[in-house]
Amino acid sequence: MGFPANGASVTDKPFKFLIYGRTGWIGGLLGKLCQEQGIDFAYGSGRLENRLSLEADVAAVKPSHVFNAAGVTGRPNVDWCESHKVETIRTNVVGTLTLADVCREKGLVLINYATGCIFEYDSVHPIGSGIGFKEEDTPNFVGSFYSKTKAMVEELLKNYENVCTLRVRMPISSDLSNPRNFITKITRYEKVVNIPNSMTILDELLPISIEMAKRNLTGIWNFTNPGVVSHNDILEMYREHINPNFTWKNFTLEEQAKVIIAPRSNNELEATKLKQEFPELLSIKESLIKYVFKPNQKTAGA
Ligand SMILES: NC(=O)c1ccc[n+]([C@@H]2O[C@H](COP(=O)([O-])OP(=O)(O)OC[C@H]3O[C@@H](n4cnc5c(N)ncnc54)[C@H](OP(=O)(O)O)[C@@H]3O)[C@@H](O)[C@H]2O)c1
Repeated sequence: MGFPANGASVTDKPFKFLIYGRTGWIGGLLGKLCQEQGIDFAYGSGRLENRLSLEADVAAVKPSHVFNAAGVTGRPNVDWCESHKVETIRTNVVGTLTLADVCREKGLVLINYATGCIFEYDSVHPIGSGIGFKEEDTPNFVGSFYSKTKAMVEELLKNYENVCTLRVRMPISSDLSNPRNFITKITRYEKVVNIPNSMTILDELLPISIEMAKRNLTGIWNFTNPGVVSHNDILEMYREHINPNFTWKNFTLEEQAKVIIAPRSNNELEATKLKQEFPELLSIKESLIKYVFKPNQKTAGA
């Protein structure tokens, strides 16, 4: 679906992107991509919860599209949100909704990097079944405050016809030194669970999000590579391509629950909608090899 549905298309003017999240992981990568692709862009300097500052950014930049890669994810992890509920609401709820509202008022498509960590395997979508959650499914995971507020915002954003909600999950990039990278995280943990999940390879999918803006796509999108991959699958690939001596220890979800505060979501998202729009989209395992492990390969002959 495009926006605006009736009048002149925003693509009538040359592309100029206004990006929130300059200092963040995804926002930083987006800026680099725009530079590489020769797309005119500027980072927003406003705070999401401050409407006037967002309006000033839009007036100064005059964007064709807005990208929201700003949000609080918690440091060192989402457990932070359990003890900082008001701060989490301020940015992820009040802020995200304010930005969507300003963009709507100005007739701008907002590409919003949201999360797919709002679902968990259930009896209708059992683990290993290949039956993933679809875009229209109602979130069923509210185990953490972070996920709970993200699910609430997703529901409210459905009413904004200018918003493209991208459900990102367990993002992975080719930069294996980045502590935010899911691969880097699990190679550094003392013990890891072993559960198949849908995941997002940023090197493949962030350029797709730019293309989605150019096509003025809106609505909800499961923004993951098709299929699932488990922690052990990834660590086996890591051993094969990066460090043949790498070893790890698994533990159960019950044991994991003792070392974290809020439960974590595990799920499969159905990626058919994205694959139909972008037929070249690789499965998660193919994408991991092509975009992450081959470019970083340190072992011979793998
Ligand atoms: N990383 C993940 O595991 C993951 C997974 C799924 C979805 N996502 C979603 O993707 C988005 C980006 O994630 P990320 O990993 O790139 O996050 P990140 O590295 O933590 O960066 C967050 C960015 O948001 C900015 N920010 C925070 N509060 C703000 C506010 N009130 N107003 C304006 N800017 C604000 C930060 O700037 P300051 O430093 O100036 O505050 C920073 O630039 C988030 O919404 C996140 O929920 C992330």
